[in-house]
Amino acid sequence: MKENVRVLIPEEEINAKVNEIAAQINADCKAKGIDKVMLLGILKGSAFFMTDLAKKLDMNVVICFMDVSSYYDDTQTSGEVKINLDLDISIKNNHVIIVEDIIDTGRTLHMLMERLRLRNPASLKLAALLNKPDKHEFEIVPDYVGFTIPDKFVVGYGLDYAQRYRNLPYIGILNFSE
Ligand code: IMP
Ligand code: MG
Repeated sequence: MKENVRVLIPEEEINAKVNEIAAQINADCKAKGIDKVMLLGILKGSAFFMTDLAKKLDMNVVICFMDVSSYYDDTQTSGEVKINLDLDISIKNNHVIIVEDIIDTGRTLHMLMERLRLRNPASLKLAALLNKPDKHEFEIVPDYVGFTIPDKFVVGYGLDYAQRYRNLPYIGILNFSE
């Protein structure tokens, strides 16, 4: 099986969209008098989006990362989230924005946000670069979304297939051929 990647979102469009999202966050924070946010990136897919976004924010920014994976448990209706790497700082009373590469079924973020709310952040928002609404199985409404995309497997700008392709500067659809 051969793999090939077809460009879906070129680098320039990603850059413009990241600027747009940053402008929205800047405006929202200004309107609410928030002068410090905590960006919580979900490893590893969000790494590129996270650093590009952070550079465009005009308030104090703390960055932190978590590594989580979700799995479906037959005995539960919703599944569970496994925390592979937890935060080394408290989010209590902080304005937290989760930064994620893509919302697919929404399972990971749904579970994670439930867990994080128990840690009493001042606010908890979600910025997702990509969203596949057709695939959602869990109630999840991102506060900031980059692109709504069809139900295709995408790679690049942080997103991987078997840990590869993360370093592509664009987002592409991965296809397989003989
Ligand atoms: P969920 O189904 O929303 O919980 O998605 C969990 C994770 O699956 C995402 O954070 C991504 O890391 C990964 N994922 C989902 N769709 C894609 C894709 O099209 N390409 C690469 N990774 C994906
Ligand atoms: Mg992810």
